[in-house]
Amino acid sequence: MSSIITKSYFTLPETKIVPAPPEDTDTVVIGVYKNELRQSKDINKISEKIKDIFYICEKANFDGDSGKFLYILNKPIIVLVGLGDRKESDIFWSRENIRRASALGCTEARKLGAESVTLCGFEEKVREALEGAFIGLYRFKKYSKHEHEREKEVKKLFLVSDKNSEKIAEFVRIVCEAQNFARDIINEPGNVINPSTLAEIGSAIAQEYGLFCEIFGVEEMKKMGMHGVLAVGQGSAVPPKFVHIWYKPEEIKSSIKIALIGKAITFDSGGLSIKTNQNMQHMKADKSGACAILAAMKAIAQIKPNIQVHGIYATCENMPSGTAQRVDDIIKMMNGKTVEVVNTDAEGRLTLADAISFANKLGVSKILDMATLTGACMVALGEFTAGIMGNSDEFKRLIFETGLEVGDKMWILPFDKDMEEKIKSPVADLKNAGDSYGGAITAGMFLSEFVEKGIDWCHIDIAGPAFVKKKIGCYTVEGATGFGVRTAVELVKKIQIQNQ
Ligand code: BES
Ligand code: ZN
Ligand code: ZN
Repeated sequence: MSSIITKSYFTLPETKIVPAPPEDTDTVVIGVYKNELRQSKDINKISEKIKDIFYICEKANFDGDSGKFLYILNKPIIVLVGLGDRKESDIFWSRENIRRASALGCTEARKLGAESVTLCGFEEKVREALEGAFIGLYRFKKYSKHEHEREKEVKKLFLVSDKNSEKIAEFVRIVCEAQNFARDIINEPGNVINPSTLAEIGSAIAQEYGLFCEIFGVEEMKKMGMHGVLAVGQGSAVPPKFVHIWYKPEEIKSSIKIALIGKAITFDSGGLSIKTNQNMQHMKADKSGACAILAAMKAIAQIKPNIQVHGIYATCENMPSGTAQRVDDIIKMMNGKTVEVVNTDAEGRLTLADAISFANKLGVSKILDMATLTGACMVALGEFTAGIMGNSDEFKRLIFETGLEVGDKMWILPFDKDMEEKIKSPVADLKNAGDSYGGAITAGMFLSEFVEKGIDWCHIDIAGPAFVKKKIGCYTVEGATGFGVRTAVELVKKIQIQNQ
């Protein structure tokens, strides 16, 4: 099977918005808010057939709380799922509860052999209900023959809604398919996805979805002075590549241009500052930022916003070898600044810095980068929350709020002038790592040295949430989450609306 894919291996169910459950659906998933069983129209309807439904719920301790579910082997099968507190005041959780309920309902229905699932009771929460289903049903089955191999996939999904929601449904489908595509390429290991194949995937996406594309090899990068990327890539048998794909609206009514940059280390062994085996596990996911950006570009190509969007990633494999960069090496970066390499495992910032220098020259007003940059960010915020840093309070807030709405958990981390000396070098302009405190912040501050004045820039450190070691929330399988795809697409939509 070729690994150069442009669509997720996982096929989303055919989806339809319907006024009532179709006669022949084999499973009905009913969302119920906490302590609202008696008020639920759907449950009252069922109680005509299943007279003791309220008694069953009481006995099974099902009260509609988030995370709870109950199934009744009827025809059709009924799966009740808790939507949590209707008055939930936290923007993130009020929406996330819905996604999780839908994901839970759909995956439980699948376990029961359902091929056609109808979602009821999700009221106006069409977007979250579909997001939960599409993200929750995803599995990466390419290499495993587990029990789930025998489980059938849900082929048809119906969502009961009065709202005219076809447009929203189409949008959610595009974005979630893209997110699942990102998960597929992140889940592929380093012996399948290397800088060469990751660049080919970029080019295939551009071709399939009508985006512009340019890819630079080592010689071109040398000409442009991208020695950060070249230094990180020089230890690998597979040379680095620089990928730039961009979307231009057909009618250029708006001159707004933004850049989305992703960290694209196809495997991070640490280089000569080699990681321990335990820390090296899952370092295939060090390309998650680039995969999120690539997926967002694919979605943007289909949504066709009225702004120009540039997707950029410099892809390398960070390996130790006789040609690898050394500790103590001094690199002259694309923007002319010199960097002393004090740790070859702090490689992401070297590649991103040159990608930022490249973006500076495109005439963009905003740059957003996503990167699995530091373990320190996970120490600071836990493994499920990404860190937002940047040079504009307004832009940071916009990203934070977007994340809250779409379900990407993030928190803003501060830059600190008093920490600047941590990344100053006695032999060069900068060094590529600080000390053991505030590592996410010093990494972000390092990147800020490469952003040209006048550009709003945000950096999201996604080291934690890009990849989960056990299933959580609506990610019903361990592995890549596709964190950041929904945020990037929504951000582009918001910037377009702001500039209309
Ligand atoms: N790719 C890692 C960061 C990472 C760690 C991502 C855990 C996901 C999970 C990055 O390149 C790295 O190794 N960072 C170092 C920086 C240090 C050497 C200054 C780290 O976090 O230890
Ligand atoms: Zn590293
Ligand atoms: Zn890394």
